[in-house]
Amino acid sequence: MIDCTKWLCLLFFVLLLLKAEASYVPITFVQNAVTKGAVCLDGSAPAYHLDRGFGEGINNWLVQFEGGGWCNNVTTCLGRKNGRLGSSKKMAKQIAFSGILNNRRIFNPDFYNWNRVKVRYCDGSSFTGDKEEVNPTTQLHFRGARVFAAVMQDLLTKGMKNARNAIISGCSAGGLTSILHCDRFRALLPAGAKAKCLSDAGYFINTRDVSGTQHIEQFFSQIVATHGSAKNLPPSCTSRLSPGLCFFPQYLVSQIKTPIFFVNAAYDSWQIKNILAPGVADPEGHWHSCKLDINNCSPDQLELMQGFRTQFLRALTVLGNSPSKGMFIDSCYAHCQTEMQETWFRTDSPLLNKTTIAKAVADWFFERKSFRQIDCAYPCNPSCHNRVFEPQDQPEKNVTTKGTSDASSRNPNSWFPKLSNKGKWMELLCIKQWISGLLPILFILAEARMYLVSLDIDTTNYLVLITTMEGYLCNFLSVSSLLML
Ligand SMILES: *[C@@H]1O[C@H](CO)[C@@H](O)[C@H](O)[C@H]1NC(C)=O
Ligand SMILES: *[C@@H]1O[C@H](CO)[C@@H](O)[C@H](O)[C@H]1NC(C)=O
Ligand SMILES: *[C@@H]1O[C@H](CO)[C@@H](O)[C@H](O)[C@H]1NC(C)=O
Repeated sequence: MIDCTKWLCLLFFVLLLLKAEASYVPITFVQNAVTKGAVCLDGSAPAYHLDRGFGEGINNWLVQFEGGGWCNNVTTCLGRKNGRLGSSKKMAKQIAFSGILNNRRIFNPDFYNWNRVKVRYCDGSSFTGDKEEVNPTTQLHFRGARVFAAVMQDLLTKGMKNARNAIISGCSAGGLTSILHCDRFRALLPAGAKAKCLSDAGYFINTRDVSGTQHIEQFFSQIVATHGSAKNLPPSCTSRLSPGLCFFPQYLVSQIKTPIFFVNAAYDSWQIKNILAPGVADPEGHWHSCKLDINNCSPDQLELMQGFRTQFLRALTVLGNSPSKGMFIDSCYAHCQTEMQETWFRTDSPLLNKTTIAKAVADWFFERKSFRQIDCAYPCNPSCHNRVFEPQDQPEKNVTTKGTSDASSRNPNSWFPKLSNKGKWMELLCIKQWISGLLPILFILAEARMYLVSLDIDTTNYLVLITTMEGYLCNFLSVSSLLML
């Protein structure tokens, strides 16, 4: 048994915790963008977080766009102007990089050593807006498309102009960004570069809500009108359809020339909450508990959700059969699966045909294998986590918190699903002996991991297993010691 004082224990566990699953990356403000009028809703400079590539990844670039819904009119845009989704002054000075942004091979086998960028979202239009005029009263700037251009210019000068491999990616509103800007991104890179796009939870479909209204269609056309987005949407779509429709992937993806991969849940939880059963279509709140936890849904609600999946799969058929358009469409109740370690690459991650999202995306990117899989209908896939949302995660309740259901804005320390349930934990933790008993196991795991790494053969599966166990133990121990202090 190892005996250490409480403080030493705590320090030890905090250090281990910091080692686990995510690293923190500082913010960079693009100050010179301001003179070009490329600014956030409040007029502040755009921003991103860059973790430099290393080793063989030095000329590879992954540019990930943050998500966080949209603002569709002056009222809702004012609602986010003074928050992190409308102002870089309110953004965290460093954020956690995990999942596809992780800098460790065991968590992110194919992209860990790339230059990894997270572009912050502060325009409310998926980087499409561009209105010259600024209303003197509201002081709102609708300049998302200029922000896109300015950030790309900045990254090109920081080395992206020499990229050999490159991906734009993003989840939710950021996943839509990578669809809408896919060919534009490709055109910015050297002709010889392998450049592709990845959209995570960005395939928003145009369908009726449970009351029969075309709620999302109205919402999207308001976004496009408010931000002046039409001229920045793909001309191949706007020449045929009204600009509001050209905000929906299903009307433009068939025209995208650059290879693109779609990771999406067929029961995308954001779409269920905001497209199928938005608050306005359910004034009495019959869907409330179902939206928080799919296990609470009634048979009737599940049937409507199966109908939603049918619509979703129909909207995907426009992709055709090209292997350059990949897809991983699982039947989980989830939204954003590439930035969270648990859904991206871990021993318990969601699988389709025994393949993790991380492997499917990498196989497709490096052309090792095409990947186009659609899961069987819910609840057939046992590897799904089917996220349970806290009531405060409800997106449509409060405009300023719309982004909180996005992985991109989740607190990386919330690995413990029910941490808030302090009483339960205390019960568990009173048994201090447990903790001292777990310590030797942790040391043995750490030793085993170092040994495996030193072997220099492909032991990725064992490493992931060990690291996951370590992660759980460390989390458990650090939380326990915190609670006991
Ligand atoms: C702005 O949009 C929100 C959300 O759709 C809506 O509730 C509100 O009535 C709109 N406000 C105006 C002034 O149109
Ligand atoms: C699943 O993967 C295997 C091998 O990786 C492949 O041969 C098979 O065709 C895949 N199944 C489907 C349905 O695509
Ligand atoms: C959203 O919630 C916050 C905190 O609960 C509150 O201060 C703010 O006024 C709310 N915004 C809207 C638009 O309801």
